Amino acid sequence: MPLVSTIELLRKAEAGGYAVGAFNCNNMELVQAIVAAAEAENAPVIIQASQGAIKYAGLDYIAGLTKIAASKSGIPIALHLDHGTSFEQCIQCMLAGFTSVMIDGSKLPLVENINLTNRVLRAAKAVGVSVEAELGKIGGTEDDIVVSEREAFFTDPLEAKEFVQSTGVDFLAVAIGTAHGRYKGIPQLNFELLKSIRALINVPIVLHGSSGVPDIAIRKAISLGVSKVNIDTNIREAFVESAKRVIYDKPEEIDPRKLLGPARDAATNLIREKIRLFGSSGKA
Ligand code: G3H
Ligand code: 13P
Ligand code: ZN
Repeated sequence: MPLVSTIELLRKAEAGGYAVGAFNCNNMELVQAIVAAAEAENAPVIIQASQGAIKYAGLDYIAGLTKIAASKSGIPIALHLDHGTSFEQCIQCMLAGFTSVMIDGSKLPLVENINLTNRVLRAAKAVGVSVEAELGKIGGTEDDIVVSEREAFFTDPLEAKEFVQSTGVDFLAVAIGTAHGRYKGIPQLNFELLKSIRALINVPIVLHGSSGVPDIAIRKAISLGVSKVNIDTNIREAFVESAKRVIYDKPEEIDPRKLLGPARDAATNLIREKIRLFGSSGKA
């Protein structure tokens, strides 16, 4: 089937008390792994492209690969721009067929973040694309800041309310203790903060940096209103560890398919586990 509306997937998830996995792709094998996992679990799924993915593979390749995968599948698949950096990039993604875009104005002062999001929203609404924004700063594990410092970047619930009211954004990424990349310790999520945000905004909430967050914390976040869970790092780990194993076991191997095939299977298995964790199995 054609690519589907991201916000519609998230509204259904919200009503059903589960979350949709948003999995990052960088190449054909990862697109295939995400779709194979969603098909095996009969789950709706979001394929997303980061800045790095766009640089590496190219926007058109990612859109093309995903559209082909969706057209061959009976599973609802959405295509999302992850951490969009500019109005122009969001427009390019809309033209390429993405069904949602994230405009990440989290580094801007509140009013500028609101203005930028509104500009993207006006264009997106005209073509039926949904929009994610970020409030608070999620950052990366490599930022090397201690938890108490990171708290200064957490999403302020009153600002979240003001942001949603001033923009009508479709879904909102919040900073409640997660970070992108590999955690050095066990991340501690601020669930009281998540509850306060949930009480003040009525749009689906997005959890970034979800690789390495304990399953129990993911389940709790979903029970408190998270409807989109972003996973990248765990997929990279599964994919690359599998490829490394082949190289280690058979150093004479020269056929890329013998590395990438098992790596694709490893990514598929990891994504299936995440889909089950998010409760979206059987919700296609
Ligand atoms: O959102 C962050 C991604 O996990 C990092 O993406 O390194 O592909 O730009 P990138
Ligand atoms: P991880 O790489 O930590 O899973 O984060 C993914 C993410 O938030 C993409 O936007
Ligand atoms: Zn992210």
